[in-house]
Parts: sequence; structure tokens; C-alpha cells
Amino acid sequence: ALYPVIMAGGSGTRFWPLSRQARPKQFLPLASKLPLITDTAARLKGLSTVKNTFIVCGPLHAKAAAKLVKGLPKANILVEPVARNTAPAIALAAVHVAARDPKGIMVVLPSDHHVADVPGFKRTLEEAARIAEGGHIVTLGIQPNRPETGYGYIQVGDALSGGGRSVKAFKEKPDTQTAKAYVSSGEYLWNGGIFVFRADVILAAFEQHMPEMKKGLAALSKAAGKRTFGPVLKKVFPKLPSISIDYGVMEKASNIAVLPGDFGWSDVGSFAAIPEVRPADENGNVISGASAVVVDCKGCVVLADKRPLAVVGLTDVVVVDSGDAVLVVPREKSQDVRKVVEALKARK
Ligand code: GDD
Ligand code: MG
Repeated sequence: ALYPVIMAGGSGTRFWPLSRQARPKQFLPLASKLPLITDTAARLKGLSTVKNTFIVCGPLHAKAAAKLVKGLPKANILVEPVARNTAPAIALAAVHVAARDPKGIMVVLPSDHHVADVPGFKRTLEEAARIAEGGHIVTLGIQPNRPETGYGYIQVGDALSGGGRSVKAFKEKPDTQTAKAYVSSGEYLWNGGIFVFRADVILAAFEQHMPEMKKGLAALSKAAGKRTFGPVLKKVFPKLPSISIDYGVMEKASNIAVLPGDFGWSDVGSFAAIPEVRPADENGNVISGASAVVVDCKGCVVLADKRPLAVVGLTDVVVVDSGDAVLVVPREKSQDVRKVVEALKARK
């Protein structure tokens, strides 16, 4: 069976003032009227059941996650006592899936991405699951269109007999110069951050490539599905290394396969990406909120709250009112919004 695992622990500081500590990016309705996490779960319909779906998140967000993904059994919300990045988050899900079904296929998904072509996405995941059955760690590869430094890059190798392509190298978050060289070489795909593997395969990979997790994983595996799990988790989880699956496993493992996919993927990285995932008007403006007034603007993103928000005569500017805070930023500087959060933190 397929076991979707939705990772929902990220903070998304680039969406201030809409995102706050208690309401990170995945809980915002950025791509549709529904929060990204709700869209993420809905996209999986037909592929698996809510009974087999897990969400991994922190204690602050467990309630919101339960509310936004309808019908999910409470036991399937796995709460990390502290955030330890994606390798431990995936390990936590893997011990639960393995306890039910050791060779169960996990489909690990970020909670905060957008997919335009849902049927195409599902077909790709089904093929990835078939490849994963043979023991590969499968990642979905996306055709790059810019030297983005926030992504992982996959150097694509030969076709594998069981489907997908072999991986010559995996490089997480290269610097700009390296990213440029990768994109112009034509040999690389972006790592989509969506992974498919058997529970036993990823647990073995953790043991092999992150031996510092071995003891903790053994304790968690032993307690999985039992009453004692809570206390064991509290004791063990904070001691796991804080590292992403990309650095911890993907850069090191040799049994990786990449499955190229073209399904209108966007990781909605900042306000600048909103026009990629939401319909714009004839001037390329994305406007949300009945109280927004936009005059003579081009390529703007205007997100209003209840009070009137008027924007006049601007090109490629983001204006966001969250009700208690306002952001104005040129679209191409949208990445720098995280600096606002840093500045506000430093002030406290
Ligand atoms: N439960 C949990 N706990 N979830 C987490 C944690 C954690 O400690 N840290 C991050 N997440 C969730 C985020 O909410 C997000 O949905 C997903 O895991 C990926 O984390 P990001 O922090 O967004 O990773 P990234 O964007 O820097 O990089 C990853 O995604 C890129 C594509 O968007 C990597 O896999 C890259 O290689 C990839 O290109
Ligand atoms: Mg991300």
C-alpha cells in the first residue's frame, strides 16, 4: 500500500506578514482559496486513503493540521517534540509505517507546494511507487528554468531497467555560480523535494548514512505503535541530528533514482511566485480580497485584508495587508522578506 507522509514543520518566513509562528506558509491559502496543506492532501485522493496518510509537524501546529486535513485519524498526526529538520521527521514517519507494513511505500511530500496538473502528478507518483518497490529511493526531478540556489540539483544518469534514471550526483543548495553551471550544462534536474521509497529501505539508508541516528531509530522502532511511544519519543527525538534528508541521505546514497516529472510544480517560494500559481488579470496582477483597489498597475501582487487597500501606478510590486501589518516590496526582492522577520526578532 501507499503511505503519504506530509511534512508540515517549516516556518516560511518569506510570507510575513501573512505567515506568523502559529500560522506558517503551509496553513495559508496562497495558491487557491484553501490552505496549501489542504490542497496537498486533496491532491492525493485516489492514490491512497486518509487512514494511511501521516502528517509530521510540531506541537504548535498539530491542531491546525488536524482541522485542515479532514478525516485523518488522530494517531496519524506525528508530533515532533522539537524540530529536527526533515531527516528525523521522515524517520519518525518511517518507524510508524514500518510497524504497520515494513515494505510499505512512503510518498513523502512537502505540505507547501503547488501542482497545476494533478492527474499528471498522480501518474508520476504511481510510477515512482513502482520503481520504489524494487528498493530505490526515488525523487521527482523538475526541469530547471533558472539558477535557483534554494534547491537541490540532480545530475541525471542512464535509464534504469526498472524505470526512472540513475543519479550521478546530488548536490543540495549550490552557490549561484555552481547553479548557473548546472543549469547551462543541461545535465541536471531540480530536486522537487518529493520522495518515494519503501519504509525498510529508508530506515536502512538512515542507518548506513547517518549512523548517529542508529540508536535513536532502534528505540523508536521498538516502541512504534505501543503506549510507551510518547515518552520514548520525548527522550530520543531531541538527540537526533538536525539535518535535512537532502544532506543526510540524498547526497550520499547510491540507490537513488530520479523520475523526471512535468506537472506544473511550484514550491511557492515567495510572494514573487504567486502569479505562477494563481490566475492574474489582463495586466498580470494577482489581486485577492474584495476590498482591494488596483489602478494602472502591472505585474503586482495585491493581497488585501478587510480594510480597503489601494495600489496605484506600480509595476511588479507586492503589497500585502494582514490586518495588523503591511508589507510593500518589489517583486524581485521578495526573497528578502525573511530579513523582516529577522529584524523584528532582533528588536524583541
Ligand atoms: N515535520 C517537519 N519537521 N517538517 C519540516 C521540518 C521539520 O523539522 N523542516 C522542514 N519541514 C517541511 C517543510 O514544511 C516543507 O514542507 C518540507 O519539509 C521541506 O522543507 P524546506 O525547509 O521547505 O526545504 P527546502 O525548500 O529548503 O529544500 C527542499 O525542497 C526543495 C524543493 O522545494 C529540498 O528537498 C531541496 O532539495 C528541494 O529542491
Ligand atoms: Mg521549501
